[in-house]
Amino acid sequence: MCGIMGYIGNRPATPVLLDGLRRLEYRGYDSAGVAVLNGGTIEVRKVAGKLARLAELLERAPVDGVVGIGHTRWATHGEPSDGNAHPHADCTGRVVVIHNGIIENFLELKDELQGRGHRFRSDTDTEVLAHLIEEAFHGDLAKAVAQAVAKARGAYALVVLSADAPDEIVAVRMISPLIVGLGQDETLLASDIPALLPYTRDVVIIEDGEMAVITRAGVALSRIGGDPVVREPTRITWDAAAAEKGGYEHFMLKEIHEQPRALQETLMARLPSDREIALDGVAIAPDAARALTKVWLVACGTAYHAGLVGRILLERLAQIPAEADLGSEFRYREPIVGRHALAVAISQSGETADTIAAAREAQVRGARLLAVANVVGSTLAREAADVLYTRAGPEIAVCSTKAYLTQLVALAMLAMHLGHARGVLGRARVAGLIRSLRALPAHAQAALELEPEVVRLAERLHHVEDVFFIGRGLDYPVAMEGSLKLKEISYVHSEALAGGELKHGTLALVTPGVVVVALATQPELVDKTVSNIQQVRARGAEVIGLGTADTAAALGPHVDTLFTVPATDPLLAPVLSVIPLQLFAYHVARLRGNDVDQPRNLAKSVTVE
Ligand code: AGP
Repeated sequence: MCGIMGYIGNRPATPVLLDGLRRLEYRGYDSAGVAVLNGGTIEVRKVAGKLARLAELLERAPVDGVVGIGHTRWATHGEPSDGNAHPHADCTGRVVVIHNGIIENFLELKDELQGRGHRFRSDTDTEVLAHLIEEAFHGDLAKAVAQAVAKARGAYALVVLSADAPDEIVAVRMISPLIVGLGQDETLLASDIPALLPYTRDVVIIEDGEMAVITRAGVALSRIGGDPVVREPTRITWDAAAAEKGGYEHFMLKEIHEQPRALQETLMARLPSDREIALDGVAIAPDAARALTKVWLVACGTAYHAGLVGRILLERLAQIPAEADLGSEFRYREPIVGRHALAVAISQSGETADTIAAAREAQVRGARLLAVANVVGSTLAREAADVLYTRAGPEIAVCSTKAYLTQLVALAMLAMHLGHARGVLGRARVAGLIRSLRALPAHAQAALELEPEVVRLAERLHHVEDVFFIGRGLDYPVAMEGSLKLKEISYVHSEALAGGELKHGTLALVTPGVVVVALATQPELVDKTVSNIQQVRARGAEVIGLGTADTAAALGPHVDTLFTVPATDPLLAPVLSVIPLQLFAYHVARLRGNDVDQPRNLAKSVTVE
């Protein structure tokens, strides 16, 4: 989720680029840079840290010129540093690129380029593109860019400037967003609409697999290396604040809808074939994996619910005893950890005090620490021996949604990775799970299409004061997550319980009109959950059922309302079943008039005990 800006026109480019990057700050950044064409050469200014540091650098060392590109980086490959900041140049400095996305095969490309004498200045995947373009450029920049990206696999929004093509900027898009802004004798490029609004409201969306060559006169669209494309401009009527939310009313809803792409980014470059999981940042040797005696998962809130799912996945797929504990509890329980233990600290922010303390406690007691984090260079990420980044992009809403979904997928990949290393996960099972993982983004998109039905349910139930969520096995932690979502943004009291526990007490609270959300995505447990549904319906409860296409037939006849998400491997069902619950919590909160993105009493990152 980097920020990208491009400008070609008649104004000084630097102020336009900086202003645009500032409007993209919500996309997160850990470094920033600009490249401006000035008198036949390209001048680059880039620096790690906040955007203000780039502005200071440009104050000290200004760059003139009316054509330029700018970038704010949200690191995925290579730690935040001046050298890893974009733009990146080729050997000659006459081609510079900025990029949002992931080049899956960059290591092999880098080896080949270095073998042909190219000198690299950064650890990033992006830099290989500058050198590939350098090799392919013989006067036609668009052709050179097309040839370069043809060798790259992955996701990219790539913008290229060349001193030898001073009247154009070339851009290509594959998955990561890129938009053209059409001004008067000036044309702009940006990752997102807010950056364009001060200059134009007429935009052209670049679609996947397309190239845009922008000049002062406008844009020429085509398939990459292929036929021209004609697309009418779109007139944006949003204001800047609405534009930051992508036209959604709240960041939370935008982030719920970003989940398919977030899943794609999390999976990117980690499923190189049907046979293996490639976890960059995780260096647990096979013999160490085989020697593991226990995995301790520590986290708070929603991340803890991800840990509860991860616990089951690790036991099923890696056959390692695993336990999930709240960060705030683990640190005081004097746990017996031992040398052959792995501690997995899960945290979107990487700064949650209770989780950090628990992670440190586990290390002191002998565990190797692996962080599942979303923020590159966060405290947890820095202190861990291994880091598995979720790559969900910045999560602005206090209420965690896309970070949670990507945590689940990261934990599934970790469990598969360890299971494969321990020789307890057969090839066929690995291949089947990898196919299911690859299908998750599309299945998540299908789950989002339940939103109109969820809105109708929320419109009917948003005055409700008590909701119970029940589930068994993997459905239980998802029930807990659904309950937390509802509580923390709609302020409706709710609790989650293991279906089998109803008869041990809570059933006493079930009276006519009580709402019960029953999750049943696990085929072997549906019948048991159906019997729980019959228990609560016999006492007058209204039951909302949530199943998959594989369990809907068994569940449907017993519930008042049924939501069905696509069928997937039962171990991955939590990734999909939570989506209708996120949408339900959001729309109930919206209908109750709450401040959805900033719920009362809560903070995005709880950095105090
Ligand atoms: C999630 O909706 C909550 N806002 C909260 O429970 C959050 O998950 C928890 O504070 C942990 O935060 P972290 O993932 O940044 O560690």
